[in-house]
Amino acid sequence: KYYKGYSRPFVRVGAPGYLSTPGYQDHAEDIYNLEIRPDDIWVIPFSRSGTTWLQELVWLVNNNLNYVAAASEPLNKRYAYIEHVTQKSDAAKKMPQSSRPEQRATFESFETLPNLPSPRYVKSHLPLSRLPPALLDTAKVFYIARDPRDVAVSLYFADKLFGYFSDEVTFKEFWDLFKRDLVLHTPIFSHVKEAWEKRHNPNLFFLFYEDMQNNLPSVIDKVCNFLNKAYTVEQKAELARHLSFESMKKTSTYSKLSKGENSFFRKGKSGSWVEYFDDAMKEEAMEFMEKNLSDTDMRFPVVE
Ligand code: A3P
Repeated sequence: KYYKGYSRPFVRVGAPGYLSTPGYQDHAEDIYNLEIRPDDIWVIPFSRSGTTWLQELVWLVNNNLNYVAAASEPLNKRYAYIEHVTQKSDAAKKMPQSSRPEQRATFESFETLPNLPSPRYVKSHLPLSRLPPALLDTAKVFYIARDPRDVAVSLYFADKLFGYFSDEVTFKEFWDLFKRDLVLHTPIFSHVKEAWEKRHNPNLFFLFYEDMQNNLPSVIDKVCNFLNKAYTVEQKAELARHLSFESMKKTSTYSKLSKGENSFFRKGKSGSWVEYFDDAMKEEAMEFMEKNLSDTDMRFPVVE
């Protein structure tokens, strides 16, 4: 009842029951059965975990640092966001364009994927288990994980920006939904752990948003190695400058996605979740983290 513009109720799919739109369920099999190409590049994080940051890095490294081409094609044209159309509903489509800013841009989706020329760049927020089983054995796949408390805050503002939630919903209410897995794509920990468990697969590049905050040059080096690309020290330094929060906020077309203070490039920080949690929520957050980290050796790096 919190989501605006959906004419049918959300559904749970897959083993832990990922919350999904009915539109996705209509096409879940089509997506699962997509053919993968060996030169495909897939970027598949949970939403608001650093997808855009990583997409820009990966695309530039694999395209000879062609900043001119990157500037002329927004990321949503360079990458096919496969489940995008399935997340819209008839009601959402009828909403005025102004309240759904992201719909002004055109997106490639799973429907267009078979016709795209190689190498294809693909974005998805679906968990690995909902993606084609041949993915990891065939393509190059990138996953970025972020502290779920920062994700919750970031997603709250993004969902309001994109008009999924009404302005009256408070962060306290949103957090309550998030921790009870009542937000699209949750449970977040299952999503992240699915990828973490596959992190030794040679085709999977698993990293943390916090790694990019702590040491972007080292992440750039690793991505270059993973994609077998060699660049000079100066070229990599220029890439790091291009990928800074300030630079991307200034140059990315996504910067146009803004409503007052709220924008797609919001804060670009780690740990700022504390500003939005009262004492009771902090306590709940600690329990949420402890419970979900108890069966894994995965830990979110601390950002200095
Ligand atoms: P905040 O809302 O915390 O600022 P996604 O691309 O997965 O939707 O993630 C969006 C989050 O990544 C936003 O977080 C956004 O500001 C942050 N982000 C995007 N580009 C970034 C950059 N160059 N440096 C740091 N954070 C970045």
